[in-house]
Amino acid sequence: MLYRKFGNSDHHVSAIGLGCWQFSGNRGLAGRFWGDMDESTIRSIVQTSLEGKVNWFDTAEMYGGGYSERSLSAALQSLSIQEQDTFIATKWNPVLRFASSIGHSFVDRETNLAPYPIRVLQVHNPSSLSSIEKQMQAMAALVHAGKIEMVGVSNFSLDQMKKANEALKAVGLTLASNQMRYHLLDRSIETNGVLDYARQHGITIIAYSPLAQGLLTGRYHEQPNLIRKRPGFRKYLPAFSENSLHRTQPLIEILKDIAGEHNATPAQVALRWVVQARGENVIAIPGASSAHQAQQNAAVMDLELTSAEIHLLDKISREVSGRP
Ligand SMILES: NC(=O)c1ccc[n+]([C@@H]2O[C@H](COP(=O)([O-])OP(=O)(O)OC[C@H]3O[C@@H](n4cnc5c(N)ncnc54)[C@H](OP(=O)(O)O)[C@@H]3O)[C@@H](O)[C@H]2O)c1
Repeated sequence: MLYRKFGNSDHHVSAIGLGCWQFSGNRGLAGRFWGDMDESTIRSIVQTSLEGKVNWFDTAEMYGGGYSERSLSAALQSLSIQEQDTFIATKWNPVLRFASSIGHSFVDRETNLAPYPIRVLQVHNPSSLSSIEKQMQAMAALVHAGKIEMVGVSNFSLDQMKKANEALKAVGLTLASNQMRYHLLDRSIETNGVLDYARQHGITIIAYSPLAQGLLTGRYHEQPNLIRKRPGFRKYLPAFSENSLHRTQPLIEILKDIAGEHNATPAQVALRWVVQARGENVIAIPGASSAHQAQQNAAVMDLELTSAEIHLLDKISREVSGRP
C-alpha cells in the first residue's frame, strides 16, 4: 500500500485518489465531456475506492457547476463516512473572475461538500483577472480563518507555481500541490521544470488524466469504433483518432506485455508508472466509469514495476510521443 505525505502537511494520502469529474451529471460544458452517471454507480465507485484503501477525492466547481461535489458528499453520507475520515480537494474556477470571487466560490464549495471539510482548495487554472499574488492572499485568508487547511493550484507553469509559492510564503504558508496532466503520453512536467521545483519545495504533483482519458487502457486500440458509442465529448478528441491510435499502438503493446508479467491490465501498468516512475511526490487521480474500474485502479497500489519495466516504458513513451 502506498500512502504519501501531502505537500508539507502531516496528512498522508493514498498514491491513488479518485477523480470525480465523471460525477458531473452531464451538466455544464465540462460536465458533458463524460455524459451522465446514475447515483447508484457514483455510490458504488466511491464505496469500492474506499474499500480499496483510496483515502481521498478530487472534485471541482467546474464539474457540473458543483454537481460533482454534491454527488460526492451524498455518496459519502450514504456510506456513513465520518467527516474526520475524509480528505477532499476541490477547485475554484477563476475564468473571467477576480481574487475577490474566491470567498463567494468557497461558500458554494463548502455548502456542496457539507458536512465534509475541504482540506485543499485549488485554483483550477491560472486564467484569473487578478494576479497570482492577490489570489494567493485570498486563498491564504481562508486558511488563516480555519476554513481550509491547504492551498493548491492546477495547470500552473513553473513561473506561475513559483509566484504562488512565494506569495504564500510571504504570509507564512507554502503551496501544497500543483495538479497537472501527467501520463505516459504527456510527460511535459518532467522537462518544463514543474516536477523539479515541486520536488525541491515539497509540493505534491497531483497527476490528472493519468490514463490519458482511457486511451492508455488499450480498449480503444482494440475496438476503434467503441469510442463513438461512449457518451460525451471525449470521442471527438484527436487522441482517439485512427492516426493517433495507430501511432500509440507500440506503447499499448508494451503495456500489455508488462501487464502479462504481473497478472494485471495495461491500464494498471500505465497508472502504476505515473505513481512510481518519478518518485514519491507524484500521486494520481484516475476517474472511473464503473466500480470495477475503481477497484482495478485502487489495486495499482499493490503492484510494483521493476526498474527495467519503468525504463522500457520511459523509452517507448518518448518514441511514440516523438520526443528525444
Ligand atoms: N485540473 C484539471 O484541469 C483536470 C483536468 C482533467 C481531469 N482532472 C481530474 O483528474 C481526474 C482524472 O482525469 P480524467 O478523468 O481526465 O482521465 P483518466 O483518469 O485518465 O481517465 C478516466 C477514464 O478512463 C477509463 N478508465 C478508468 N479506469 C479504467 C480502468 N481501470 N480500466 C479501463 N478503463 C478505465 C474510464 O472511461 P471509459 O470507461 O469511458 O473508457 C474513465 O472515465 C478527473 O476525474 C478530474 O478529477 C483535472
